[in-house]
Amino acid sequence: MSSAAEIARRRTFAIISHPDAGKTTLTEKFLLYGNAIHLAGAVKDRKNQRATASDWMELEKQRGISISSTVLQFDYAGYAVNLLDTPGHKDFSEDTYRVLTAVDAALMVIDAAKGVETQTRKLFEVCRRRGVPIFTFMNKCDRPTRNALELLDELETVLGLQSSPVIWPLGNGPTFKGVFDRRSKQVHLFERVPGGAYQAPVAVTSLDDPAVRAKLDDHAYAEAHEQLAMLDGAGHPFDLAAVRAGQQTPVYFGSAVNNFGIQLLLDGFLHDSVPPAPRKPAAAPGSVIPVDSEKFSGFIFKIQANMDPKHRDRIAFLRVCSGKFERDMSVVHSRTGKTVRLSSSQKLFGRERETLNEAYPGDVVGLVGHDAFGIGDTLSTDRAIVYDEIPRFPSEVFTYISNPNPSDAKKYRAGLEQLLQEGVVQSFAPRNAPPGATLLAAVGPLQFEVVQWRLQSEYNAESRLTPAPWTLLRWIEAPAAALTKDGALDHSRYVVATGVSFGTDKFDHPVVLFPNEWTMRYFEEKNSELKLHSLPLEQTR
Ligand code: G4P
Repeated sequence: MSSAAEIARRRTFAIISHPDAGKTTLTEKFLLYGNAIHLAGAVKDRKNQRATASDWMELEKQRGISISSTVLQFDYAGYAVNLLDTPGHKDFSEDTYRVLTAVDAALMVIDAAKGVETQTRKLFEVCRRRGVPIFTFMNKCDRPTRNALELLDELETVLGLQSSPVIWPLGNGPTFKGVFDRRSKQVHLFERVPGGAYQAPVAVTSLDDPAVRAKLDDHAYAEAHEQLAMLDGAGHPFDLAAVRAGQQTPVYFGSAVNNFGIQLLLDGFLHDSVPPAPRKPAAAPGSVIPVDSEKFSGFIFKIQANMDPKHRDRIAFLRVCSGKFERDMSVVHSRTGKTVRLSSSQKLFGRERETLNEAYPGDVVGLVGHDAFGIGDTLSTDRAIVYDEIPRFPSEVFTYISNPNPSDAKKYRAGLEQLLQEGVVQSFAPRNAPPGATLLAAVGPLQFEVVQWRLQSEYNAESRLTPAPWTLLRWIEAPAAALTKDGALDHSRYVVATGVSFGTDKFDHPVVLFPNEWTMRYFEEKNSELKLHSLPLEQTR
């Protein structure tokens, strides 16, 4: 197959959802369609903390969570599907967000009884910023759900996302009888036939078809009829260009655990979603490197150390952006400018690994043993290609970390520096921090436990966490007049409430920390010459 054909058949995406909406179940069903049945069990096992799949990391075992995101690649209907896992339960972290910088599309799974929940909203925002296509699956239709039109309305009002249902539910809860495919005008009945499969779709011209009419009770029939008429008359018509630009979301209804409506979703998603698109290099924003260029390029979106206790290694996950990856190829590492040979490349398939000899744009390559690689670094055969740094994300939890054993200072420092470089957490320096303590900031509290656990297990260094009083951090944009001669913020000019502290990030950029929303609003009111940003300034410009 030509490179162009290989690229065209790739679909690289992630599932975004709130915990318990059904992401794991849906992933498992997708794997069944991709004939990766042996893995479908592993996905569940990991979640249910059964010993088989999770003996590689003590913390993971103890907590029944997955610390690392993995990549599942499978072939289905001629497509090469790369499904990138987004840790979502207690292991929600910056990694979850970063994975979204490496995908070309997202599938948003919503519990139809609950609607849009917080974690979905946060993940959605990251996808929206990148403008990737977003497909919506309303799950758990076998149980009572919220009104389907209300759910669509919520996509518009809460997420500001135009929706166009492709698949529509017939009935609700006990009266749920199947779905209507608005494109093919087929009804799929939620009725098992011997052998565990569902009945073949029934072709109908309308819901009045006696075959369908007989299945639905009067209320469900009247409601579906009315809703479909309304969608035809007043709904947004399906607009593929808008979908591909991330402006409209096609909506599907079904039930993951019952494997109902999943193939409709998978087929529709793969068909309407996009193959890898060129990514814009930072240095020359006007120029794009075609995906099928002769020049190989990619960027690192995640680092995972010690995934395998037998090897104690460090894996950098590279998303291929252009050209063809070949094992043993030499590339330039953007941050150091050095040429490196990529000999130890692996395909990570869930928990399994195998040597990877070639990969195309859209694929993810695990590179083992390159300590200099950091998150956001570009690897390319052309040193002129350097991709944008991976954005940082607003921290929501804070803690001080310190070393209780002065004699271990060296190990502690080395370990903490490595973890900070990996981007496990961020660090900040508030004014008047306790001596010897570093302020850590993260998206989820589990990241702090990971830091402590890894300091102990990999660097043999103990650490102590001490609560820090803040819940919000903002970067400060200040006018020239607000700066001292050496460029630092002149704190004496500002009125702050009790508990608020100024500080700096790792680049010495000024930040301010707040214990709560109220103190932040007060600060903004009193110090209007300062602009506050939830992300570093270079990202907000
Ligand atoms: P997550 O990865 O998004 O956190 O969700 P997961 O797939 O683990 O699903 C959360 C719970 O919802 C599971 O039940 C799962 O079986 C159930 N579920 C998923 N899809 C459907 C559906 O279509 N209908 C219904 N009724 N339930 C669904 P659990 O009791 O927490 O776990 P389990 O013992 O069933 O695995």
